Amino acid sequence: MTLNDPEVVRRDYASESRLLDRRSIYETSEGPSTLDVLWDRIAEAAPERVLEVGPGPGELSERMATELGAEVVAIDVSERMVELCRARGVDARLGDVQALAFEDASFDLVVAAWVLFHPEDLDRALSEIARVLRPSGRLIAATNSELHLIELWELLGIERIRYSFGAENGERSLREHFASVTTHVVEGAVSFADTAVARNYVASSILYGHLADRVPEVTEPLRARRMNAVFVARKAA
Ligand SMILES: C[S@@+](CC[C@H](N)C(=O)[O-])C[C@H]1O[C@@H](n2cnc3c(N)ncnc32)[C@H](O)[C@@H]1O
Repeated sequence: MTLNDPEVVRRDYASESRLLDRRSIYETSEGPSTLDVLWDRIAEAAPERVLEVGPGPGELSERMATELGAEVVAIDVSERMVELCRARGVDARLGDVQALAFEDASFDLVVAAWVLFHPEDLDRALSEIARVLRPSGRLIAATNSELHLIELWELLGIERIRYSFGAENGERSLREHFASVTTHVVEGAVSFADTAVARNYVASSILYGHLADRVPEVTEPLRARRMNAVFVARKAA
């Protein structure tokens, strides 16, 4: 099973519950916020027309519209996520980043937050994104390192999480489609307060949820590394 298997993606996002369970651990975050780094890169792009791919429930799309006054369109393969985005007033449509139903050069900015490890064909997704960007337009993408939360995964004998688009290999793929790429690595920590919290987090993983009961008892809060990358990729002028 891999994160870029369409059946895995369909099951993971048929409802928002797994995603929201996973996100809840970031309430314990220490250190710089990846969401702040992502937001600062978006705000400095000062976009007028934005496409967000894989918005999930749509918080970021809503924020780009309200705080930046941008015209935002969001596309997601999950009907439920599209419904949640629309409930926030976002112009959300069912769609796949691998086949974008937009004209060439129609956006200043494409935002892809923790989504580019999901398409089966990453190159196709990146060429579609580059196609719909105007000359000098930007893709801003966030993802995880293979060492993200590794202290938790090591309890299960998992040495690293492989991502088709991760902090370690994302820039290489982006360079095939964009004229320039800047990578911002963001590191911090989260804490799993007790065994139940650690098991609940594992249970919310579509790949490893079946191993949740195998997480050993943790006798004191488990601190785990938070490690992400935010990429800014620019299309040629
Ligand atoms: C990990 S969630 C991230 C949600 C949100 N961007 C965030 O940062 O919390 C991945 C999202 O991408 C969507 N997704 C997965 N594969 C996709 C694809 N090929 N095209 C568009 N959306 C996709 C999923 O349905 C889900 O909403």
